[in-house]
Amino acid sequence: MENIWIDCDPGIDDAVMLATAAAHRDVLHIWGISTVAGNQSSDLVTENALRLASLLKMDDVPVARGAREPLIRTKTDASHVHGENGIGNCVIPPAKHSESDKNAIELMRDAIMGLPEGETMTLVPTAPLTNIALLFKVFPEVKRRIGRIVLMGGSASAGNATPFAEFNIFADPDAAQIVFAEHEIPVVMCGLDVTRQCILRKEKINEIAGKGSAAQRAMAEMLQYYATSSSYAPLNCVLMHDSCTIGYLLHPEFFSGRQVTVHVVRQGENMGQTVCTPGGNVLLLDHANVEAFEQMVIEDICNKSF
Ligand code: BDR
Ligand code: CA
Repeated sequence: MENIWIDCDPGIDDAVMLATAAAHRDVLHIWGISTVAGNQSSDLVTENALRLASLLKMDDVPVARGAREPLIRTKTDASHVHGENGIGNCVIPPAKHSESDKNAIELMRDAIMGLPEGETMTLVPTAPLTNIALLFKVFPEVKRRIGRIVLMGGSASAGNATPFAEFNIFADPDAAQIVFAEHEIPVVMCGLDVTRQCILRKEKINEIAGKGSAAQRAMAEMLQYYATSSSYAPLNCVLMHDSCTIGYLLHPEFFSGRQVTVHVVRQGENMGQTVCTPGGNVLLLDHANVEAFEQMVIEDICNKSF
């Protein structure tokens, strides 16, 4: 069992990531889900995370709200890709549970420090890194109990928010620099170099739509919206950026990369760029087995009982 904590901003691809994680609770112990303002406001992404957790039969997993804004910058969002409600305007029934009374940072600290002696937590951030940076600054004692961070963010090639920057890093470059500066913690960077290969062909969305459960219908509806958004309308596929993290945890053999050190540009027109230099604590993924990854996502959504 791998202990994981998911930090996300659902988000259509975050929703699919939650489904891929929920499909593997036999090998992934999900201690909590935290939210951060990113694709949409803190209120919307927190509500979405709660409803998705319920829909995916994860009512036992606490959902906690984290940062409502980036550390320093003005908040930006990605509603042009994810819709006004953050999940393609899909309506999911209200959750059975409410958000935790505790802030995400506190709840993460409690979960990490409460792990049995000798065990560590894997952090899985698929959103701006504001919560993780705050966690390190407020509770630095957690760092020795974090086994690794498997994150979606950054790019050693072109960006998507700007020609240089990927959205999650661009949205809070200061937080990202704090996280990448922790050279003692191994990081797996699922950036655009690899997530641009993590495709789901549009024709496959119909396979999901044909399945019966409410969760499967909701996934298909969100994916249909994603497919018609300005980013994907001209393409025959959509990108499953955030599911790459869970894909790597379950099947590292689907991926390859190289060790680098990452520095985040925080000024000027390259703001949010992740500059990667050879050697270091970050495994920068740059290749994926495209067919195997797509197959995994489809099977996880179609064949599991949620
Ligand atoms: C990342 O940005 C968000 O819009 C997605 O959810 C993903 O985490 C891709 O750049
Ligand atoms: Ca995301």
